[in-house]
Amino acid sequence: MTLADSPTSTCTDSPLGFALSEEQALIQESVRELAQKEFAPKAAEIDRNHRFPRENWELLGATDLTGLYFSEKYGGAGLDHVCYAIAVEELAKACPTTSVLFSAHVSLTAAPIDFFGTEEQKQKFLVPMCKGEKLGAFCLSEPNSGSDSAAATCMAELKGDHFILNGSKNWITNGIEADIYLVIAQTDKSLKHKGLVALLVEKGSPGFTFGKLEDKLGIRGSSTCQTIFEDTPVPVANMLGKVGDGFKVAMVTLDGGRIGIAAQAVGIAQGALDHAVKYAHERTAFNKKVIDFQAIKHMIADMQTQIDAARLLTWHASVAQDKGMKFSREAAHAKLYAAEVAMSSTVKCVQIFGGFGYVTDYPAERYMRDAKITEIYEGTSEIQRLVIASSLLKGT
Ligand code: CAA
Repeated sequence: MTLADSPTSTCTDSPLGFALSEEQALIQESVRELAQKEFAPKAAEIDRNHRFPRENWELLGATDLTGLYFSEKYGGAGLDHVCYAIAVEELAKACPTTSVLFSAHVSLTAAPIDFFGTEEQKQKFLVPMCKGEKLGAFCLSEPNSGSDSAAATCMAELKGDHFILNGSKNWITNGIEADIYLVIAQTDKSLKHKGLVALLVEKGSPGFTFGKLEDKLGIRGSSTCQTIFEDTPVPVANMLGKVGDGFKVAMVTLDGGRIGIAAQAVGIAQGALDHAVKYAHERTAFNKKVIDFQAIKHMIADMQTQIDAARLLTWHASVAQDKGMKFSREAAHAKLYAAEVAMSSTVKCVQIFGGFGYVTDYPAERYMRDAKITEIYEGTSEIQRLVIASSLLKGT
């Protein structure tokens, strides 16, 4: 049995009638094949060397995944958001670093251009992003504002037909490697969230530099760094929406992005479980296979139950997005639950591997390290609970 065709990896049907369409099943099969063949064998090396896998990014472009749910008019593949969740899950199962460079590009940068951009902006930015010629990055957090996005102090001062950007942004995924950066900046501190603006900044703009690459616990191949702007001119033509729309752009973008992180968490959890099941079949103790111990069976049963529930929450949020419904709460449910399942499943995976789970010869410890960030980025678990509770109390 290979990991690619492990029975625990397959979820295509449900008695509730939530069967994948032919197209969705095809994406699941083709991304799984690509990811297991091309990305999984390199995942440990990428992690060990903190290496951004540019060749993986290029392959995602060559296979049209970089424009997955955008219109064919802009060079996209015209697929739905369930396909996106499926693709991210399959990538994360094989190589979580690759899944996050992909999701930051698609749902955090290309998606807001598609949703809020003008036709000119789509032609200039979205088309090369769909084709995989340009990589995107989303710049919201700052050294002193992570969860409190409205407290951003990176300033955008309007001077003629340009904004002049000054300040810095932190924890930027695809950091040094990206070409197009969506930057949320403040035009007037007294206006708080109503003063924010969303600007597309191109790499190479004057005064645009990078801080040091972060040395991270997990997803170590993804390039994370600070972006620094010193008197950086950005044409007004690069603004998404109008002055004051920046907070809305960020929040709407994060709603979609959170589904991507939920899918990433499901993929990490499923990948860890698949490896644990395989190992438990191979390893013997007390003259029997480890898989034959009831304690191990209970662990894998709990893991798969929670992973299936997390996947259904993720697909539920994607379906809501596809139907054009409001899906902030659904995305928060999915991200909150899937991230916690990723963490608990990967800890159990290490336990099943025993001593071998604690060393780098096997992927168990890497999945555990990669899982942690899903409880932090694109809104911590505490922020997801805040979003869910506030929606519940408002009855929205
Ligand atoms: N969609 C549309 N509008 C929204 C919205 C949404 N999901 N959420 C809020 N809004 C609107 C509100 O309706 C309100 O509008 P009005 O001013 O017209 O009334 C306005 O935005 C302000 O809303 P709140 O008062 O609720 O805002 P808040 O300041 O209390 O913040 C929050 C709410 C949920 C805490 C929000 O700040 C948040 O999500 N914070 C977390 C940020 C985050 O996820 N950061 C991660 C950065 S990205 C990353 O991780 C990097 C990477 O590269 C991976």
